Amino acid sequence: MKAETTAGMNRTGMDMSPMDSKELVVGARIMPPSSAGDDSAIASVIAHYARREERVGTMPPPGTLKGAVKTALQALKGEAPLVLLDKLGERLAFERAGSRLWKGVLAKFDALGSFEGGPTREEIELIYREESEHFLLIASVIRTLGADPTAETPLADVHGVASCGLIKVVTDPRTNLADALEAMLIAELTDNDAWDVLIDISQGLNDEELMNQFMAARAAEARHLTMVRTWIKASVIARANGDHANMVAS
Ligand SMILES: [Fe+2]
Ligand SMILES: [Fe+2]
Repeated sequence: MKAETTAGMNRTGMDMSPMDSKELVVGARIMPPSSAGDDSAIASVIAHYARREERVGTMPPPGTLKGAVKTALQALKGEAPLVLLDKLGERLAFERAGSRLWKGVLAKFDALGSFEGGPTREEIELIYREESEHFLLIASVIRTLGADPTAETPLADVHGVASCGLIKVVTDPRTNLADALEAMLIAELTDNDAWDVLIDISQGLNDEELMNQFMAARAAEARHLTMVRTWIKASVIARANGDHANMVAS
């Protein structure tokens, strides 16, 4: 069984073949790029499309909001109710993705076990449960506000796309528990920041109970982050010490 830090058949570096690399450098000098211009052309295409009045998505029309929403959200001015519902939609999507990601981490754990200083099964399960609870909390808040939690909001879409890479890392059969935790660090950092923003924009609702629930979720996210950071540090030390308990590469 080989660890990924074991020297293997990695041929991606140019130094693998000094003769070919010299030829490659010469070739690159002789052969100009197949198209003219520099990366400013890419920027101008991005700018061109960005200027079009086309968004990732839209919010459901306010008319679909039930009566309760008007009372609950009345405290918020202007576009703020829609902004809040968009952020809630985003959190809903991310917490759902988060709970699935942690389920994936659990599967890695069950297949490979942990490493020195790494997570226990109970710890992973606890985070998974808390992410699921956050998802259900947000869904019920959206319902209470009279909106539809099944509607995909623009920010839910943005975050869904952004987290695609995390899902790929966690579900890749070649990644181990430590690799999956690297992806979860990105997820938990986002979780922490996003709850801060959500708490900020929810202040205007003047709902103490809701605020307490959000603060409890925020505190849970802070714990998740501390745990993942500790495990990642431990995984690096475990690898450096040659502890390959969970560092198996196929
Ligand atoms: Fe969460
Ligand atoms: Fe979390």
